[in-house]
Amino acid sequence: MADIESVLVSEEAIRDRVSELGRQIADDLSGAESEVVIVAVLTGSVIFVADLVRALPLRLHIGLTAVSSYPGRSTQSQGAQMQGELPQNLAGKHVLLVDDILDTGRTIRLLRGEILKQSPASLRTCVIVRKDRPQARECQCEYVGFDIPDAFVVGYGLDYNNEYRNLPFIGTLRREAIK
Ligand code: IMP
Ligand code: MG
Repeated sequence: MADIESVLVSEEAIRDRVSELGRQIADDLSGAESEVVIVAVLTGSVIFVADLVRALPLRLHIGLTAVSSYPGRSTQSQGAQMQGELPQNLAGKHVLLVDDILDTGRTIRLLRGEILKQSPASLRTCVIVRKDRPQARECQCEYVGFDIPDAFVVGYGLDYNNEYRNLPFIGTLRREAIK
């Protein structure tokens, strides 16, 4: 793809890691007596969550929520804002919050806080990539696919101006592609 500068995580590496994450999460939740609910953060997590739930041999429900922090052509976080409702029935359930990336951690912190208000039985968070920056490392996140350098990345759900989400790998954009 001409706009890509370098591939940071290949399609094969993602496939293997998603299977591993699925096994680990299924193990951790295998004794769960109450319902397991996946809360996927739109739009960036759609590709990841679709792969992850098929790697999870568990009974589960899927709920969606939306948070925006990189509107339009931003390549710096503009602060997390809820764009949609959370599922409202999380009390007593085992919740797994799934997002694409941990960057400033604002999205995950905001959503964890809101979900905890509903008193779930447990709350865990899973992202496919985490950037190498202090705020990201300080944010509570039980399952991380890959640690990557602190660069703006696209692919596997991650976008620039709503493009590139369908790339099967995660990579950086050439400077010329950022307008
Ligand atoms: P945080 O709230 O700063 O951790 O950012 C999380 C959200 O910002 C993610 O769900 C992504 O949608 C978006 N985001 C953060 N970093 C990137 C990136 O490098 N490329 C594309 N989107 C990003
Ligand atoms: Mg997002």
